[in-house]
Amino acid sequence: MRYLTFALAKGRLAKKTLELFEKMGITCEEAKDPDTRKLIFTNEEHKIKFFLSKASDVPTYIEYGAADVGVVGKDTILEEGRNLYEVMDLGFGKCRMCVCGPESAKELLTKNEIIRVATKYPNIAKDYFNNTKNQTVEIIKLNGSVELAPIVDLSEVIVDIVETGSTLRENGLDVLEEICPLSARVVVNQVSLRMEHERILKILDQLNNLIQNEK
Ligand code: PRP
Repeated sequence: MRYLTFALAKGRLAKKTLELFEKMGITCEEAKDPDTRKLIFTNEEHKIKFFLSKASDVPTYIEYGAADVGVVGKDTILEEGRNLYEVMDLGFGKCRMCVCGPESAKELLTKNEIIRVATKYPNIAKDYFNNTKNQTVEIIKLNGSVELAPIVDLSEVIVDIVETGSTLRENGLDVLEEICPLSARVVVNQVSLRMEHERILKILDQLNNLIQNEK
């Protein structure tokens, strides 16, 4: 039997996913070592491998078939726009993609003004302003701490993830518009879904049962 490979977005999503697999009886002792720098873990009994990759690379591994199944946030799926099947909402990692800024920027979103939008998600921001709002904007790509941008006048607003809202609050910013809800999703390579249909469906079914019980 060939290995079924899973690409997990490093961090909280991978941790939560490995916990779910453990409950399914698919354990990975090595992965539990908090000091490990290993990126691949194998379960020989079930012939499963787990890769830990940067979240934004998960859709790439899946599209090319380097991994069969992935767990990654909806934000990354939308931003990367890769060819893959999104097959399940795992229901954890819930947050929202929003347009945020100072309250005073709200009116800039109602007029057809050209404004600057700073974001780690240029494709999501472009799609929202061009296609949903029909507003011409200048997108400024940043790599983190995006909340700084309106404070230092790099941009009028930002497009970013809001979870608890505390980063916004502590920096005097508000949610101005909601773009979409986000959560962790299971994605599958298009060929793998056909070739490994039974094994993948069995795992999805077990995951689904666990998630329903946790609700
Ligand atoms: C994310 C996001 C917000 C923050 C939202 O950033 O970009 O900044 O979390 O969470 P909150 O609503 O609970 O405050 P992350 O921690 O990933 O760091 P980064 O901004 O450096 O990418």
